[in-house]
Amino acid sequence: MSDQNSTLIGRVKSITGSKVSIQLDSKIKSIMPIVDGVLYRVGQIGSFIKISLGYTKLYGIVNQIGADALPESLRELVMNENNDARFTTRWISAVLIGETFIDKFERGVTQFPNVEDEVHIVTLEDLNLIYGGMTEDQSICVGNISVSESLPARVDINKLLTRHCALVGSTGSGKSNSVSVILSAIAKKNEYKSARVFVIDPHGEYNSSLKDDNQVFRINADVSKNEKELYIPFWALPFDELMKIFSGRVSDQQRDYIREKILELKLGSITHINPVPNQAAITADSPIPFSIKKLWFDLDDFERQTYTDMARSIQSNLVQTGNANELRSNIYQPASTTNTAPYLNNRAKGILNFLDSMRNRLVDNRYRFLFSPGEYEPTHLGEIVRDLNQLLSEWLGSNKKIAILDLSGVPTEIMASVSGAILKIIFDSLFWAQNLSVGGRKQPLLIVLEEAHNYLKTGVDSISSRTVQAIAKEGRKYGLGLLLVTQRPTELDETVLSQCGTVIALRMYNSSDRSHIASALQDDLNNITDLLPSLRTGEALIIGEAVKIPSRAKFFKMSESPKSSDPKVNEEWKKDQPDVTEYSRAVEYWRDQRFN
Ligand SMILES: Nc1ncnc2c1ncn2[C@@H]1O[C@H](COP(=O)(O)OP(=O)(O)O)[C@@H](O)[C@H]1O
Ligand SMILES: [Mg+2]
Repeated sequence: MSDQNSTLIGRVKSITGSKVSIQLDSKIKSIMPIVDGVLYRVGQIGSFIKISLGYTKLYGIVNQIGADALPESLRELVMNENNDARFTTRWISAVLIGETFIDKFERGVTQFPNVEDEVHIVTLEDLNLIYGGMTEDQSICVGNISVSESLPARVDINKLLTRHCALVGSTGSGKSNSVSVILSAIAKKNEYKSARVFVIDPHGEYNSSLKDDNQVFRINADVSKNEKELYIPFWALPFDELMKIFSGRVSDQQRDYIREKILELKLGSITHINPVPNQAAITADSPIPFSIKKLWFDLDDFERQTYTDMARSIQSNLVQTGNANELRSNIYQPASTTNTAPYLNNRAKGILNFLDSMRNRLVDNRYRFLFSPGEYEPTHLGEIVRDLNQLLSEWLGSNKKIAILDLSGVPTEIMASVSGAILKIIFDSLFWAQNLSVGGRKQPLLIVLEEAHNYLKTGVDSISSRTVQAIAKEGRKYGLGLLLVTQRPTELDETVLSQCGTVIALRMYNSSDRSHIASALQDDLNNITDLLPSLRTGEALIIGEAVKIPSRAKFFKMSESPKSSDPKVNEEWKKDQPDVTEYSRAVEYWRDQRFN
């Protein structure tokens, strides 16, 4: 081999575990040698090196360059031998990540190099070998490998889904585009006929980039755009989660009392369900319809009743008849303040404050999708027009592979409860479906949580964080995979992040976010996150189980970008001033609590 084509860059000088320190060869003139007409960059953080051991070739990823890469134990020796600073800086260190044996690349190493072994550049031929093994069937192609644009960047769909994935990066780094690329690669794969993906989309970004392959569910749906109304029947939630939606506090006894009442109502409605569920299995947590307005009215009525006799056997007359549907209380003759008739109900539970907070939620238009969920809203007898199976088959069983739950109409303060309620319904239904063909093991489900930090805050105990934690820990057993998308990994619950087998890190400036990601990586590799601030838009480090080796890759760009939620200030400000009468409409909407 001529000198010009030599791939030799240095020699191994020390080995600790999987970390190798390499002294660069004094003869290499340039750190950008040309081999067979291709330009290579030696010694860039994140680039690869190769060590040949006979038939086996070891591959490493460069994690340190320059004087820092010179091991302390060798420093003195090197300084004594050569009185020239260059000898202390021409060092790189690399972490061994895999090996090839007879043209097959495997992760992990079974052999280790020796001191003085030669270290070589990784050529296109090597890269083809490393990246080539993943079959088209088990992987999706999301972009190109940065070091060699002719190589496709593939991710293993089995690992991506079953081991969960976190996709992180600063705003504008290309997260939403990357998610669209992943989802459309899944949707466009014809052989994945029954692929299903469920996207929680807080800003309504994805509809435009994934059109044709998705079904959008939205509050105030635009039917002309084929959107469907988003309903989340409150009665599908377990008792504790339902109670958390109301802000009022109750004591343990009061809580048990309300639980009993809900159970009674649920038991009362089971005859309307087909097939009639087993009564013995019903609890206040069961997804059985009941009228929450009737519950409120009955509880409220009991608190307000007064009696004409001391023994509390004869009720006073009603002064004003209430109405459960309109959430108006029954008003009785007021109790006297002295010890004369009418008397207060001495069995009242003292929950009027709580009932007030409950009523506030029930009349709040922003909660209509939950408490007045269209045909899923039970009558006072607990009858419903549509049951949960219809909801689930719309969300999970539609012929569109991707269901997008556009939550852009949901106020931020209730985002956590809404997304939590949705995830809880999905998780519970697939948990109980584990032996069925619609269960996650037979038809795995990928759940995408965009802007995950908004409703999965670390240290905050909410229905969404509890459910996501459960999916992160146990989802694998039930065929549920998470793709968490966030620009603030530090705010993300750590237990959830640590369950993500694959991390896709786009450009990231914030150093605490970077160290948070670094802490989730294999120890030796954590300084490759130093690369993150300098990545191009759409470029990512893909690390973990879904890729053969940690890879720097550039995602494809979708032809239709996900719609950004930010207004285009310069364009909007060029438009004519809107009519000031619009402000009267603003106040009208505000008072009526609606958007149109
Ligand atoms: N792979 C890519 N190549 C080129 N441009 C990209 C790529 N990914 C994203 N962009 C552009 O960068 C901008 C921000 O992308 P976006 O996905 O909305 O980022 P984020 O969701 O991280 O805020 C968009 O204008 C988008 O078109
Ligand atoms: Mg985005």
